[in-house]
Amino acid sequence: SDMGLKDYYKNYFPVGVAVGPRNLAGPEAEFIIKQFNSLTPENAMKMGPIHPQENQYFWRDADSIVNFAQHHGLRVRGHNLCWHEQTPNWIFKDSLGHQVTKAVLLKRLHDHIQTVVSRYKGKIYAWDVVNEAIADDKTQFLRNSPWYQICGEDFIAKAFEYAHEADPKAVLFYNDYNTERPEKLERIYRLLKKLIDAKVPINAVGLQAHWSVYEPSATELRNTIEKFASLGLKVQITELDVSIYPWEKERRELRPGEKGEYTPELEQKQTAKYKEVFDVFRQYKKDITGVTFWNISDRYTWLDTYPVAGRKNFPLLFDTNLQPKKAFYEVTNFK
Ligand code: XIL
Repeated sequence: SDMGLKDYYKNYFPVGVAVGPRNLAGPEAEFIIKQFNSLTPENAMKMGPIHPQENQYFWRDADSIVNFAQHHGLRVRGHNLCWHEQTPNWIFKDSLGHQVTKAVLLKRLHDHIQTVVSRYKGKIYAWDVVNEAIADDKTQFLRNSPWYQICGEDFIAKAFEYAHEADPKAVLFYNDYNTERPEKLERIYRLLKKLIDAKVPINAVGLQAHWSVYEPSATELRNTIEKFASLGLKVQITELDVSIYPWEKERRELRPGEKGEYTPELEQKQTAKYKEVFDVFRQYKKDITGVTFWNISDRYTWLDTYPVAGRKNFPLLFDTNLQPKKAFYEVTNFK
């Protein structure tokens, strides 16, 4: 049919996809334009790739994504400004290799955010300002990252203030995964409430939604959306995929004999999970301002290498030939 995902959802929310510059030429580019109306750079705007040395920015890949989006009338979500992964080597160290002070690190964070956000002002409508700051360990509150070790909690509020200063119109997000797990939801809620009470400029929360055929349940998802909406925050699904494997916290080696088979049962479970969560998204249209998939099709997904390299995954709505899967028909079949 002529309808893409974005057309089915035009009365609900933009439908986006994570991309790299290589996706923006040839048949894949056409496919993106047909199915989606929002882009997130999968890696190009992360601090390591875009700011490899203190006085050196690498703009080419990020610019090419923003230019493509402008040319084809797609919106762009910026991802991300402050994270513990894919950080450049220099950021936490002085010229002698010693850890920098809080004052120095916050100044670097300020320079970084000011430079990146201003460059795309008016072209990027939303930013993931802080990514994954909550610990996985339920006995901890914040993740024990270098940001936290050097700055304490302050880096979070500061990052939002710097982003707001650079582009007062941008919609500013806290973004995280496993947000539907009750004990993590509780801690994220606590953080967001604290920021809001302190008048920090935060507008929204991103549910990464690296889900699986086993979780979350519709009830967990509803509870999550309602809890964040109760703080006056908008909600986006920022990195959606539905893995055929259960979630694992640590990277590990491929086990002998482990093949990763996409059985009809697993596809059926996945189709049902996609239907279930999209039913909820539509039901919460008032709170949900965007749904973005993390990659285009099963031909390439970051889950082919994470958390286990060499185990194929099939987590998206389109197959390895860019053809719609059963799940696509389920999520576009509604009145
Ligand atoms: C992933 C990318 O998809 C990979 O290409 C990269 O090697 C690692 O990062 N949470 C996030 C995303 O916020 O930035 C991550 O993206 C996936 C998990």
